[in-house]
Amino acid sequence: MLELRSITKRFRSGPELVTAVDGASLTVAPGELIALYGPSGSGKTTVLSIAAGIVRPNAGTVLFQGRDIGAFSERESVRYRRSELGFVWQSFQLQPGLSALDNAATKLLAEGMKMRAARARALGYLDLVGLAARADHLPGELSTGERQRVSIARALANEPRLVLADEPTGNLDTRRGAQILDVLAQACADRDVAVLLVTHDERAAAYASRVLALRDGHIEDGAADHASQLRSADMIGG
Ligand SMILES: Nc1ncnc2c1ncn2[C@@H]1O[C@H](COP(=O)(O)OP(=O)(O)O)[C@@H](O)[C@H]1O
Ligand SMILES: [Mg+2]
Repeated sequence: MLELRSITKRFRSGPELVTAVDGASLTVAPGELIALYGPSGSGKTTVLSIAAGIVRPNAGTVLFQGRDIGAFSERESVRYRRSELGFVWQSFQLQPGLSALDNAATKLLAEGMKMRAARARALGYLDLVGLAARADHLPGELSTGERQRVSIARALANEPRLVLADEPTGNLDTRRGAQILDVLAQACADRDVAVLLVTHDERAAAYASRVLALRDGHIEDGAADHASQLRSADMIGG
């Protein structure tokens, strides 16, 4: 489904060159929920942006269903992002002037679905994340956690092949977080959707079919060890 091969990304920050991702490789198969687990600044958002084709790596290749996304035409790139992918951004990226329902329906309308059908589908996904009663509210009238759930409904509504989720439980309490992870895991199981989830939340990692650890832009095996190292480092740090 998705393969990242030896991805490296550097950013210029004033006089310095920051290596955000350093030769990272991973594969995600259909129906798999992969958790890429790492602390803040480890390169998680950069990896997702590269997988989405929004940020170009300095080196390495991203393959979607065996095709190099770097070689996509403009038209193919749009189609890839609009129809094949669902995104859950860390900052949600909701349209402030649109209701929760219309935000959840945006990709369906962009794909040419009729308004009535798009809203009906979107409402089903709002219901799945427990937000049907808030369908008419604007993002500004919703809590942070509710906005996050709208962005998850939007990501799933176009029934993508691959969901890229950046800290999807970051603003949710334990119960809501578990609900969202159930929804994502269910999408994997029922519809063979692949999910690449990046997180520093250990609870999220527990839902994954595989957990990979990201540290300083490197992907390491043995995330459980990594998690316990982090915990002991926190304790030593007080
Ligand atoms: N657009 C950018 N310009 C400069 N530095 C960046 C940019 N995006 C990310 N970085 C740097 O790359 C590193 C990894 O960032 P990021 O991928 O956002 O990590 P995470 O999502 O794990 O917190 C950080 O050191 C960050 O400051
Ligand atoms: Mg991030």
